[in-house]
Amino acid sequence: MAFGTLLTLFVACSAVLASPTAVKGFDDDTLAKVKTNLQTIATHSWEIGTELETLTELEWPELSVFHGAIPPPAQLASSHIAADVIAKATASDILSIIVNNISDPTAVGPLIDGDGAVGDPASIGVAVLLTNWTRTDPSDDKFALAAQNQLEYLLTVAPRTDDGAISHRESEVQLWADFVYMAPPFIAYYGAIQGGANGTALLSEAYNQCKLYRQYLRDVSGLWKHIVLGSSQDNNHWGTGNAWAAAGMLRVLETIARSNEADNFRTEQEDLLDWINEILTAAWTYQHVNGTLYNYIDQDTSFADSASTALLGAVSFRLATVNERGHAHIPNAYRALQVIKASVNEGGWLLNTVDPETFDTPSLPGSYSPEGQAFVLLLHAAWRDFEEFSKPK
Ligand SMILES: *[C@@H]1O[C@H](CO)[C@@H](O)[C@H](O)[C@H]1NC(C)=O
Ligand SMILES: *[C@@H]1O[C@H](CO)[C@@H](O)[C@H](O)[C@H]1NC(C)=O
Ligand SMILES: *[C@@H]1O[C@H](CO)[C@@H](O)[C@H](O)[C@H]1NC(C)=O
Ligand SMILES: *[C@@H]1O[C@H](CO)[C@@H](O)[C@H](O)[C@H]1NC(C)=O
Repeated sequence: MAFGTLLTLFVACSAVLASPTAVKGFDDDTLAKVKTNLQTIATHSWEIGTELETLTELEWPELSVFHGAIPPPAQLASSHIAADVIAKATASDILSIIVNNISDPTAVGPLIDGDGAVGDPASIGVAVLLTNWTRTDPSDDKFALAAQNQLEYLLTVAPRTDDGAISHRESEVQLWADFVYMAPPFIAYYGAIQGGANGTALLSEAYNQCKLYRQYLRDVSGLWKHIVLGSSQDNNHWGTGNAWAAAGMLRVLETIARSNEADNFRTEQEDLLDWINEILTAAWTYQHVNGTLYNYIDQDTSFADSASTALLGAVSFRLATVNERGHAHIPNAYRALQVIKASVNEGGWLLNTVDPETFDTPSLPGSYSPEGQAFVLLLHAAWRDFEEFSKPK
């Protein structure tokens, strides 16, 4: 779309958006507290992977999939590599700790223990790939090897459905909406970095996993169920599951769109756009007066969940910077931002979250959601980038 058209669209929208656009993101002091708290309580593989992605988007946006071409420049300004950049952001050398702790660096396997999950350890993979790509010592191949073994594990060892969906669990074939944020963005990023025929095949694989997961999990409501197949199911439309799916597909979309193969993946990009929009459209229908979504999005007897509200708000701001179809969700995104601002306490903790390990009960008083902390920062970064994008230039 021509820039002029875009500008007209914004001018046209601004009257409608007058009130919610007044909402601003967080101040630096609050961001710092939310971040410190995230770093303190993120311990599981998916929490660390989400933390690394979050800090990349928040503090090093030029390395994220929402800016510039992929692969990014191999040389960063200054003598940093991506691991230093992330270490600075996390105040710990977490990536080196993880990669140096792999018991057999030559063996095919996950980057870190995943508590029985196939997908979760792969969430750390994009940061590992970035570290390899920006390294200053070309003979240091440990990050490349770790990423390669993680990829091989996903593609050749993990169980699959007959039609090829990679299981989210190691012990049985079971599909969780969460998987879509954990594994496909890594597979796609690997492909975009690698290039060539193998890279193209990986971009296809990432797209296909999104497609297959949607076929299994989406129902007539337009929302996704949380867990299907295997020994137990969660057929509810879990807010966080829908947010993971939409946010994961958005990262795959942007990875493809910024890769050398973008022109050969037009229909795939259209599909991903449709599927992200489908979730946002269905979910925001259930947005409550103060801006929150409920934990089971479409159930009146459920409870307010700030975590999924924050991540779906972030996806909405980002989608609007990627495609004009995203603009429809901007009023919802501002309302989400408003309720999230009201839900972060003075200590920098996000209140009113679902307990991310039970899925169906609120966090107990005094306990907080690691992924919820990350979603606050993702929402802020997405809001910031949207504001920047929509400024008159
Ligand atoms: C290192 O790996 C072992 C298992 O191989 C695990 O028990 C330990 O928690 C890991 N340490 C870190 C810092 O990740
Ligand atoms: C690691 O980086 C090099 C460039 O320095 C690149 O050729 C290689 O493909 C990368 N490995 C992976 C697994 O991305
Ligand atoms: C592409 O993949 C094949 C099979 O996995 C492998 O043998 C070949 O070395 C790869 N090519 C490149 C350029 O990495
Ligand atoms: C928003 O409204 C819901 C009820 O729909 C309530 O449970 C929640 O606490 C409210 N959030 C805030 C921050 O007021």
